[in-house]
Amino acid sequence: MAKIIDGRAISAAIKDELKEQVAVYKQQGVEITLAVVKVGNDPASAVYVRNKEKACEYIGITSRTLALPEETTEEELLQVVNDLNQDNTVNGILVQLPLPKHIDESRILLAIDSKKDVDGFHPVNVGKMVIGEDTFLPCTPAGIIEMLKRSGVDIAGRECVIIGRSNIVGKPMAMLMLKENATVTITHSRTKDLKEVTKRADILIAAIGKAKYITDDYVKEGAVIIDVGMDRDENGKLCGDVDFASVEPKAGAITPVPGGVGPMTVTMLLVNCLKSVEQNK
Ligand code: GUN
Repeated sequence: MAKIIDGRAISAAIKDELKEQVAVYKQQGVEITLAVVKVGNDPASAVYVRNKEKACEYIGITSRTLALPEETTEEELLQVVNDLNQDNTVNGILVQLPLPKHIDESRILLAIDSKKDVDGFHPVNVGKMVIGEDTFLPCTPAGIIEMLKRSGVDIAGRECVIIGRSNIVGKPMAMLMLKENATVTITHSRTKDLKEVTKRADILIAAIGKAKYITDDYVKEGAVIIDVGMDRDENGKLCGDVDFASVEPKAGAITPVPGGVGPMTVTMLLVNCLKSVEQNK
């Protein structure tokens, strides 16, 4: 029987800590505002943005959502970002991804003031993260590190295998695990003998985007399993990249979907909003 790593409980504890910090700022007359820019009508993005708004409300941060139509041009979006950069009442800026295909995502991310980049996606912040300088860390990987630490999982010296090499999860995850002194392997769609590699993992992090892909034959007895997937199974039900029923009996600890990594991502965004206030004082 694996220990279930409860992302909801861990994230609730962190949010209560943040709520107290926000209250102290309010007493000092400091109001904190997160601007969230959403372009188009992607249904998943709408859910993510709503969750971010609710989390802000809970800890006492103002969230200002700018919902722009699908036809918004790249130049128009750049103007919106620029206005938010200049706006002294805005502490953090987040442009929800993915953007419509006619907009160059990297150009938009580069336009966000790196001092307000609470997603940690600006190249300056990515660079700082890689060399280990204090900066905004990407929310999902940072949330996973926090979750492991608060669950008492040892990281230093252990074999960590990451499945997926995206800029949002896989690559930064590798850097943060390295900073914690894990021995890190990144695997991806072109990896040969994936199972042979994943079976070496003391900590296995799955960010593949394929429902229930990881079954018990990918997993070493007693391994810690972190499931970043947000997929739908054959019945349309939310599930992860890990086949929970198959893997859980073999794992030492495992995150469920929902209720694992997802809540941590939102919570780390709040952490970054407070960091922005602290850094830009
Ligand atoms: N789309 C999926 N995950 C994220 C995220 O962490 N930040 C932003 N801005 N967009 C996303």
